[in-house]
Amino acid sequence: MLTLGIETSCDETAAAVYDAAAGRMLGSVVASQVRIHREYGGVVPELASREHAAVIDGVVEEALSEAGAGLSDVGAYAVTRGPGLVGALLVGLTFAKGLSLGMGGRPFVGVNHIEAHLLAVELEGGPVELPALGLVVSGGHTTLVLMDEPGSYRVLGRTRDDAAGEALDKAAKLLGLGYPGGPVIERLSRGVGEGAAAPRFPRARLKGNKLDFSFSGLKTALLYHVRDNGMGDVPALAAAFQEAVVDMIASTVAAAAEECPAVSLVAGGGVMCNGPLRAALGGVADRAGLRFHVPSPALCADNAAMIAYTGHVLLARRGPDDLSMDADPALGLGE
Ligand code: KG4
Ligand code: ZN
Repeated sequence: MLTLGIETSCDETAAAVYDAAAGRMLGSVVASQVRIHREYGGVVPELASREHAAVIDGVVEEALSEAGAGLSDVGAYAVTRGPGLVGALLVGLTFAKGLSLGMGGRPFVGVNHIEAHLLAVELEGGPVELPALGLVVSGGHTTLVLMDEPGSYRVLGRTRDDAAGEALDKAAKLLGLGYPGGPVIERLSRGVGEGAAAPRFPRARLKGNKLDFSFSGLKTALLYHVRDNGMGDVPALAAAFQEAVVDMIASTVAAAAEECPAVSLVAGGGVMCNGPLRAALGGVADRAGLRFHVPSPALCADNAAMIAYTGHVLLARRGPDDLSMDADPALGLGE
């Protein structure tokens, strides 16, 4: 049976076709809206919804043709229902419901975008050994969970202010580097030598839950540094900022590994494309004796392959959803 996955929660319109019998993705298409939002330095929700609506049928058609399949070969429809931008979510959700209805009521399932980021790695390496620590770091989310058994997520910590990717995007904007910020900050940082003159930015020390994250202090530190000293060596500043973000994520995951009985560490989300972060978390996992699972970069960033696959898993686990299901922009894990 083929599952068609659709993703429109933020600024990527994506569709993918998963073949459960073969255990692989037959087609996966991602149409990025980055060029539209770039001039504003971030995602503009209204423009995102309009662009999703304009391109979604073409993206779905392209994924089906890549898969060598027609609509009649699709047995189930999986779509992101949250969290994300409500107008953007509604485009994908309505489209998937329409297909399900139009095809005589074939099963429809609503997928949590964060859960999909956590399951994406299974597309490449099969099921992860549980209990596992799960980390999602993206432009909209920074969440650390403990997965005890399939489908069970206990939130250990989350960001109290900006998401990790959002912090990188805002830093890049401040440094005049454009949008999205993560990739350009990583690229610039690569050329920076050990002895470069840059400040060591403060790492947040949180009161209360030590497994939460906070990036707003770091962002303010960069702002004040630039205000007081000027831009100076921009690559060195970018590298120092990236190092602080990586350090804060890695040390929080290390602290969680000490507290929790996990055997694996799973990571996902667009910020996991970052080489130094992948290396740092690999080191954390090694020292804690955890097996580290992270997908290749194309499956870390937003895509519909993870939605199709998660939809397939959910259908098997709990059956289809009702077509009355609504978008939930603030959907949490385990809801
Ligand atoms: O998962 P994603 O594609 O969309 C959301 O669900 O938010 O993540 C996008 C975020 C952006 O903030 C972007 O700057 C960041 O991921 N990102 C990176 C890299 N590539 C994308 N951050 C650090 N290093 C990268 N190479
Ligand atoms: Zn995402």
